[in-house]
Amino acid sequence: MAEYKPIPVTLIVNGKEYKLEVPPYERLIDTLRYRLGFTSVKEGCGRGECGTCIVLVNGRPRHSCLTLTATVDGAEITTVEGLAPKGKLHAVQKAMLDTHGVQCGFCTPGILLMMKALLDRNPDPSDEEIKEWLSSNICRCGSYLRYLKAVKLAAKYIKEGKIYFDEEEARKTLIANIPR
Ligand code: FES
Ligand code: FES
Repeated sequence: MAEYKPIPVTLIVNGKEYKLEVPPYERLIDTLRYRLGFTSVKEGCGRGECGTCIVLVNGRPRHSCLTLTATVDGAEITTVEGLAPKGKLHAVQKAMLDTHGVQCGFCTPGILLMMKALLDRNPDPSDEEIKEWLSSNICRCGSYLRYLKAVKLAAKYIKEGKIYFDEEEARKTLIANIPR
């Protein structure tokens, strides 16, 4: 097997700088998940179809399964771990809980980052814009209508200036609202 020289790469992940040496064929999903421990980054199809592996690269959604780490040297990357400060939830996370959008949760990280990227660009998207934007993400649990509601609720929170929520309070509210 041919030997490849490792490539020096700097990544700023969730605001923290990482200096690494990676093989030229290493995918961003593997660097983030297995080298740096950002386990919110999940692999579904591994070929750009499901959107589960999406992260934000310089604010834009990107399939980390199709991205070579060496090609994003110097980039700012956001994963779900970086959406909110410790002990807090971002408005998109709170809205996802409030609308019971999380079912098995496997697709959730990619959906959350797409929601964030959409609302950063357009704080008041129409139903059609939301559907088109989230069409990159496959949810095997079929929670699509809940995602539509979640984006609208997150937009409302952000419009009201509510960007971060207390994680523990959100957890209690979620449990209290489970239909019994
Ligand atoms: S794992 Fe990357 S798009 Fe499915
Ligand atoms: S919540 Fe299960 S795949 Fe989307």
